[in-house]
Amino acid sequence: MKVSVSPGHNINGTLILPLHQGAESVPESLQEGLHTSLKTQINRILSEGDFKAKAKSTLSVIGGEGGKAMLVGLGKEDKADAHAFRKAGASVIAARKKPHGTDFTVLFTGVSVDCMTAFAEGMMLRDYSYDKYKQQDEDDEEAEISVRFNCDSGMETELDARIINCQGVVSGVHLSRDLGNCPPNDLYPEAFADQAWEWAKAYDNVEVTIINYDQAMKAGMGGLVAVGMGSARKPCMVIFEMNKDKPGRCPVLVGKGITFDTGGISLKPGAGMDEMKYDMGGSATVFGTMEALAATGYDGKVVAITCMAENMPSSNAQRPGDVITTLSGKTIEILNTDAEGRLVLSDGLWKAGEFDPEYIIDFATLTGACVVALGHEATGLWSNDEDFRTRIHDAGNAVDELAWPMPLLPAFEKEMTDSKIADTRNLGAGRWGGANTAAAFLKQFVPNRGYDKDGEQITWAHMDIAGTFWGAKTNTMVKNGATGVHVRTIYHLITQG
Ligand code: BES
Ligand code: ZN
Ligand code: ZN
Repeated sequence: MKVSVSPGHNINGTLILPLHQGAESVPESLQEGLHTSLKTQINRILSEGDFKAKAKSTLSVIGGEGGKAMLVGLGKEDKADAHAFRKAGASVIAARKKPHGTDFTVLFTGVSVDCMTAFAEGMMLRDYSYDKYKQQDEDDEEAEISVRFNCDSGMETELDARIINCQGVVSGVHLSRDLGNCPPNDLYPEAFADQAWEWAKAYDNVEVTIINYDQAMKAGMGGLVAVGMGSARKPCMVIFEMNKDKPGRCPVLVGKGITFDTGGISLKPGAGMDEMKYDMGGSATVFGTMEALAATGYDGKVVAITCMAENMPSSNAQRPGDVITTLSGKTIEILNTDAEGRLVLSDGLWKAGEFDPEYIIDFATLTGACVVALGHEATGLWSNDEDFRTRIHDAGNAVDELAWPMPLLPAFEKEMTDSKIADTRNLGAGRWGGANTAAAFLKQFVPNRGYDKDGEQITWAHMDIAGTFWGAKTNTMVKNGATGVHVRTIYHLITQG
C-alpha cells in the first residue's frame, strides 16, 4: 500500500469518511472540501439514520457526479480510542470492492495523531492476501492501493513519520504471515534458513548464522536433532543478530519452527493435519519481529533464535522410549514424539544463554491444550517473573493482541521431572493442564545467568500461540490463514515497553 499525508481536503479517488456513531451530518470543517452533490447525498444518508456509524460498519456511496465515497463507523465517540480507529481502518479494506478503485483519500479532522496512525495501520494490516499459488488472469491483478491521509494542518509531519514507521512494522507482520501461509513442501527448515540469509543482505546491521544438521549434532543439540532426524529435510538452527556490536544485555527471542508436524511415530490423526504447516508460527513471529525492527531502523541490540525441524515418521525417526541428551546436558525420556516443540526449544532456550540476555521470550504453537483453554482469542503467557509477565500483557493490550497470564506451578514442574530413566520426560502424567506442564517443562531449560549453577535464572517468558497464530475469527486485521500475531506486541515491548 502506498501512503501519503497532506493537510487540507484535496480528494483523490474514493473518499473515506470515518464517523462517530450517531453523526447526523458531515463534520462542519470537512464540508468545504466535498463536492456539493456528494455532500448532499452523504448528509441525507446520515440525517435519515441510514448509516449509524457503529464500530466496524461501512457504507459505500457509489455513483453521482461528486465521486465515490465510503462511510466508516468508529462506534461511540467516548469509546473511539486507537483500537477503534485501527479496526475501522481494517474494515475499509475488508469492505473494499472493485468499484471503489485503488485510490483513496481519508479525511480526518480533530483526530489525534495516535488515532490517525492506528487507522492507517488497520488499513495496512488488512491489505494482505496470500495468492502466490493461484493462477491469475492479468485483468484480475489489482494495482497497489494508494491512500492519501488528509489531516488538520500542522499535524502532517508527525503523522507522516508515524505512518512510515508503521509501514515498517506491518512489513514484519506480513512477513510472519507469508511464512506461516507458505506450504510445507516449499517451507522446510533449510528453506527458512535460506530466506533468513537472503533477508539479512538488505540490512547492514543484521547478521544471520545457520547451524546446520552436522553442526547441531556436533554441538550436542540432542533435542533439535532428535525431532528433525526422521525427515529427509534436515533440521537447523537459525540465529539472527541485530546491532551485535552494541554493548550490554539484549532481548533474546526464541521460536519453535516445526515446518510440518505429523506427530512423528506418535502419528497425529489425518483430519486437519494440513494445519500443522503453521507449526513454525513461533519462528515466523521472531523473524517477523526482526523485520519490523530492522525496517524501522531500530538501533538497539536484539537476538532471535529459531529452531527449525520437520517432525516425520520414518525409519530414522525418534521413538517413544528413546532417551536424548540436550545441549544443556539434561536428558529427556521421550514418551510421545508429538510433544516435539518442547524438545527443539530446550536447545534454543539453552543456546539463548550465550547472548547475555536481558530477557528471553519464546514463541511456540506448543499445545492443543492451550487452544482448549483460551480458544483463538488469547495467547497463553507464562513467566518466571510476574512483573515481566505484566509488561508483556500490557504491551499486548497496547496493540490489541491479547496474551493471558497462566500459572507456572511447582507441581507441574514436578510432574515433568518424574522419569524413571532420565532427568526429565516430555509428557505430563495425564492429559490435564497440558499447556501448563509444557511451560513447566520449558522452564527447566532456561539457563541461569552466565550458566552459573548457583546463579539466578534469566528472566523468561513463554508464549503459546497455538490458538492465535491462525484460526482467528474475531480478528478484524486478518481475513484468514496465519495471523502474524505478536510481531506488534514485541515491537512495542522492545521499543516502548
Ligand atoms: N503442534 C502441536 C500443538 C498444536 C495442536 C498446535 C493444535 C496447534 C493446534 C504440538 O506439537 C503437539 O502436538 N502437542 C501435543 C502435546 C501432547 C502430545 C503432550 C498436543 O497438544 O496434543
Ligand atoms: Zn506435535
Ligand atoms: Zn508441534
